[in-house]
Amino acid sequence: MAKDVDIGKVVRQHLEMEQLFGGFAPKEPSVDAGAELEKVADEVRCCRKCELGSSRTNAVPGEGNPRARIMFVGEAPGADEDAQGRPFVGRAGQLLDKVIAAMGLRRSDVFIGNVLKCRPPENRDPRAEEIISCLPYLQGQIELINPEIIVALGAHAARTLLNSTKSIGQLRGQFHEYHLGIGRPPIKLLATYHTAYLLRNYSPENRRRVWEDMKKVLAELGLPLPEHSSR
Ligand code: URA
Repeated sequence: MAKDVDIGKVVRQHLEMEQLFGGFAPKEPSVDAGAELEKVADEVRCCRKCELGSSRTNAVPGEGNPRARIMFVGEAPGADEDAQGRPFVGRAGQLLDKVIAAMGLRRSDVFIGNVLKCRPPENRDPRAEEIISCLPYLQGQIELINPEIIVALGAHAARTLLNSTKSIGQLRGQFHEYHLGIGRPPIKLLATYHTAYLLRNYSPENRRRVWEDMKKVLAELGLPLPEHSSR
């Protein structure tokens, strides 16, 4: 059997080198983030940087408001997303829609993206080389949108964006910093459980944890707690 590769370690080493050699250099603020995001989406749709480019049906660049205050980042498209070319449209996406609605927001208020833009076969975990190839697209989207808060859904998104080895249990529920680059203020990042995990473990305790996390996001943005939300 092939020796296990520590994916986190490989990705972290890559990110450290990138930061060291200026891969995160700040860009001029874009005049038209929407148009620039569309260019990123076009690049993603043509991308063949890793083998997922040949196995996908559709690439899933991400979608939403170019001026979103909140950006949700998941792991990778699943079967429904691969079929439609849109993020979070399957069961996990329907639950994410409910979370967003419970926050008093619409899907069109936020931006929804993923670490990987193409579906890994059988929904297996992302591989280090796939994350390394794909991450510049997400970094570009974050730079263009410059959200006030990133919500990392699940361990893969949280660990990748925070360059961390910690478990989602350790990372969730508190604000961390996502670093855009030297001279740019960091963006607040809150990690929470992925909605797919929540579906598999739909306990009152886990639902309460996710809702507590979302209440922190609303409070941080100075947004009101919807009256009817008693989750
Ligand atoms: N899970 C993800 O992480 N992303 C999607 O787009 C759908 C399911």
